[in-house]
Amino acid sequence: MRTYNNAAQLQAALGKLRREGQTIAFVPTMGNLHEGHLDLVRKARTLCDIVVVSIFVNPLQFGANEDLDAYPRTMAADKEKLFSEGAQVLYAPGVEDIYPEGMAAQTVVQVPDLGDTLCGSSRPGHFDGVTTVVNKLFNIVQPDVAAFGEKDFQQLSIVRKMVRDLCMPVKVVGVPTRRDEDGLAMSSRNGYLTGVEREIAPLLHETLNNCREAIACGFDNFLQLESHARMKLLQAGFEPDYFAIRDARTLRAVTEYSEEIAILAAARLGSTRLIDNVRLSLN
Ligand code: PAJ
Repeated sequence: MRTYNNAAQLQAALGKLRREGQTIAFVPTMGNLHEGHLDLVRKARTLCDIVVVSIFVNPLQFGANEDLDAYPRTMAADKEKLFSEGAQVLYAPGVEDIYPEGMAAQTVVQVPDLGDTLCGSSRPGHFDGVTTVVNKLFNIVQPDVAAFGEKDFQQLSIVRKMVRDLCMPVKVVGVPTRRDEDGLAMSSRNGYLTGVEREIAPLLHETLNNCREAIACGFDNFLQLESHARMKLLQAGFEPDYFAIRDARTLRAVTEYSEEIAILAAARLGSTRLIDNVRLSLN
């Protein structure tokens, strides 16, 4: 596996591979890799000849009071995992490589509507930071395919819309959420949880599943389901940001035309913010 810290060198290497006819799949990450990330790498390997993974903790997507400095950085262990999974190229730029003129001077890509709701309301500016860096990374790597996790369902929807709206020549592939045995969605932030919090944490997924089962059984008072779920989470010690039953395509309210429902939740457990979602097809 070759590691590049510099965009020009990476582009020269990838240009050569592309001219040889090799296809490129890209997996953008912020590192501290776990099995969820590695599922994306495994999927990417089945789709293209070359897998490029990026590790970049993107300051533009962190709010002023968020965990940018505390975010776990484990480059040596990450490299070993990527090597074992057969990724051929790692791109690990520094902040000055991605934002040479500083973040304040950076042109921003903004996806309206989808980016304003749910995590967009509780983390203002977060998705602008995500779409801007993903756009830059796509332009640097120029992949044929890019893999994103369904765990961050809103992020996946927003990236798909950006690609559609800006006619970007990349195919976006979603990969199912990898969970621990007790149902907790794997996340780099799970490492912040105390022992007691880690025992409570799977209740987020359980509450989402219970809501999905109620809807599958025909219960259609969504407001009641949402407030019941929020109450359950509060009682267990979570501070819910949102628990929302939405149209999976628009992330707006479910209508008679909705084909799939997404139930999405974000909640704080102590100082850790957890997100998760489940989906339900209506056909
Ligand atoms: P990060 O949180 O490191 O996640 C990188 C990719 O891994 C994302 O596509 C995310 O959805 C996926 N992922 C994380 N946990 C997963 C799990 N348990 N199962 C399946 N996939 C999982 O998401 C980001 O980084 C950043 O916002 C990024 C897109 C890299 C832009 O900075």
